[in-house]
Amino acid sequence: MTDHPTRWAWATVDLDAYAHNITVLKRMVAPSGVWAVVKADAYGHGAVPVSHAAVTAGVDGLCVAITAEGTELRDAGVEAPILIFSEQPLDEIIDIVRHRLTATVYRTEYVEALAAAVRRHGGEPLDVHVKVDTGMHRVGADPADVPALVTKITDNADALRLAGVYTHFAAADTPGHPANAVQSRRFAAVLDALGPMDPSIAVHAVNSAGAMSMPAERRDFIRAGIATYGIIPGDGVVDHCGDLVQVMTLHARVSRVQRLAEGEGVSYGHRFVAASPTTIATLPIGYADGVPRRLWSQGGEVLIGGKRRPIIGVVTMDQLMVDCGDDEIAVGDEAVLFGTQGVECIGTEDLARALDTIGYEITCGIGPRVPRRYTRSV
Ligand SMILES: Cc1ncc(COP(=O)(O)O)c(C=O)c1O
Repeated sequence: MTDHPTRWAWATVDLDAYAHNITVLKRMVAPSGVWAVVKADAYGHGAVPVSHAAVTAGVDGLCVAITAEGTELRDAGVEAPILIFSEQPLDEIIDIVRHRLTATVYRTEYVEALAAAVRRHGGEPLDVHVKVDTGMHRVGADPADVPALVTKITDNADALRLAGVYTHFAAADTPGHPANAVQSRRFAAVLDALGPMDPSIAVHAVNSAGAMSMPAERRDFIRAGIATYGIIPGDGVVDHCGDLVQVMTLHARVSRVQRLAEGEGVSYGHRFVAASPTTIATLPIGYADGVPRRLWSQGGEVLIGGKRRPIIGVVTMDQLMVDCGDDEIAVGDEAVLFGTQGVECIGTEDLARALDTIGYEITCGIGPRVPRRYTRSV
């Protein structure tokens, strides 16, 4: 659905800004490495172009959430290691093996199924990483079960290679949160119980926020998603973000301009009524594209002519309206829904704050109907 380059609503994805952010993170965490998290279509930025840019910028591997995201990258010619963050349906194991994806494991049944599939398919042993649930309580092996799981993997060394052991923090974006110390302690205890490990086995623990807030947990590599897209991972780590540059800008062009008389209502339910005559601009982008319907009532603004202007009336499925006061606005003028125009900037973080959500949800929510245009800027 992205092949409609003339649409008057589009997202630019600045691949130089992305590469710059990778460089910032690599410098920040060296000598630890960086694996780029490109799941969910690279947080809405486009997994294939972003993954190629990540590899060129020097990441050591990529991370995805589901098998199909990994196979898409292999089919697009990505050769770097690709870690899938959780165990996948048994039906998909053959795709994991065929595409040489790195599997996450935390149940012995899954280890056995993977090993059997590798034997059936043939070829080199498949890389697997053991995920340890130290307190996120989402996926992962109970710490007490990890030594037996590792033994199960090494018992199947003809089919599987233990390539990593990792965990994930629940509150990495809140430095000083008591859960961080608890999880660190539990993870260290698991590593102790495993004893000295072959240096080829990578130990990893933190996401973008954790890389900033818990330097001691950077270990062999960090798994960086949100920061690579130039979005601050959380208010608690703002001061550690260096000079990250926002990668995505969401644009639209004014499709209609009208002068509204005092007392006229705008959009469904006429929730906005003009208190005095004003000029309004229509933008052909709406909630079906990922602009939340309620944005108008949460102080939502767009940039037109380098100025912040309020969204008025409810955002409709395909269009929204903006109050431009008495300014001269013309059909075709460019608007920015988030990103920079002139000296003004609407950060995805600003939008997220207004909507009581996180920047991740903003870019992931930009729908497939919005064409992505890849640019090089820096
Ligand atoms: C296991 C795991 N590691 C790393 C990340 C990347 O997190 P972030 O985008 O905050 O850097 C995620 C993302 O949700 C994740 O699930």
